[in-house]
Amino acid sequence: MARIIGGVATTHVPSIGKAIAEKKQNDPYWKPFFKGFDYVHYWLAREKPDVAVVFYNDHGLNFFLDKLPTFAVGAASEYRNEDEGWGIPVSRAIAGDPALSWHLINALVGDEFDITMCQDMLVDHAVTIPMALMYPGEKWSLKIVPVSINTVQHPLPSMARCLKLGRSIGRAIENYQQDLRVMMVATGGLSHQLDGKRAGFINKDFDKLCMDKIVNEPEVLARYSIHDWVEEAGAQGVEFLNWMAMRGALTGEVSELHRNYHIPISNTAAATVVLENRAEAKRRAA
Ligand code: DHB
Ligand code: FE
Repeated sequence: MARIIGGVATTHVPSIGKAIAEKKQNDPYWKPFFKGFDYVHYWLAREKPDVAVVFYNDHGLNFFLDKLPTFAVGAASEYRNEDEGWGIPVSRAIAGDPALSWHLINALVGDEFDITMCQDMLVDHAVTIPMALMYPGEKWSLKIVPVSINTVQHPLPSMARCLKLGRSIGRAIENYQQDLRVMMVATGGLSHQLDGKRAGFINKDFDKLCMDKIVNEPEVLARYSIHDWVEEAGAQGVEFLNWMAMRGALTGEVSELHRNYHIPISNTAAATVVLENRAEAKRRAA
C-alpha cells in the first residue's frame, strides 16, 4: 500500500533559479534562504520518497487567461519546462507517474471534483524551482504528479475547497495498492504582491499565523474568503491555496519538523516548512 510520509512547502520565486545557476547560495543575500534547505535535504535522504504530488499554480506557461482550469491534474509520463523569461535556465524534464495520476483523477472525479486532466503539460517555475531546491544537482529520480490550482484568474477556488481537494487526494493515496512512499509538496507564498499600489506588500504577522495554523488547525485558515486573504497576504499571497491542498492530503496526525522564514526573497516572504504524518513517525519508531 502507498504511504503518505509528509509534506514540504516552499516558495517558488523564479530568481532562486538564477541564484542556483550562478552558484550564489552562500552570498549574504541568499544564504539565510538556502540554509533553510539543509534540514529538507536531511529529511528527504532519510525518508526517500518515490513520488511527490506537487500542488502549484501555473503562471501562464501551460495555461493562460483564455483557458484556465480551477484544478488540473497531470497524467503524463514526463513534464517539460520551457523558457519563461526571468533569466533562469530552462529546467530538465521531470518524470511522471501516469498510473498514480489516473488513480487520483478517478478518485477526484468520484468525489465530485470537476478537474481537468492533462496528458501533456508543461510545468513552470512553480514546479521546477522547488525541485531544484529539494534535490540540488541530482538526477531527480523522484516522480511527480503535478496538481495545478488556479491562483491567477478570479474567481479562485476557496481555501476550504482546496483543503477538501487535498483530503480527497490523501484518501486516494491511502487506497493505492502500490508500495510507494508519497510526499506532498506545496509551492508558492507566503505573503507577496507583485503589482499595483501595494507592490512589495508583506505581512509577517499573518505569515506566522499561516505557518502556525497549517500544522494542526487548517480549518481556521479555511474560513478566510479569498478577498480577505488578498487583503492580509497580498494579491499573490493566494498561492497559499497550494499549501491548503497539501495539508489536506496529510491524512494522519501532523507535526512540524522544520520551519524557515526569511524576508524578502525578491518581493516575497519566503517560507520553507517540513510536516510529517504522525502515523508514519509511529511506524518508524516501532
Ligand atoms: C515572484 C514571486 C512569485 O510567486 C512568482 O511566481 C514570481 C515572482 C517574486 O517575488 O519575484
Ligand atoms: Fe508565484
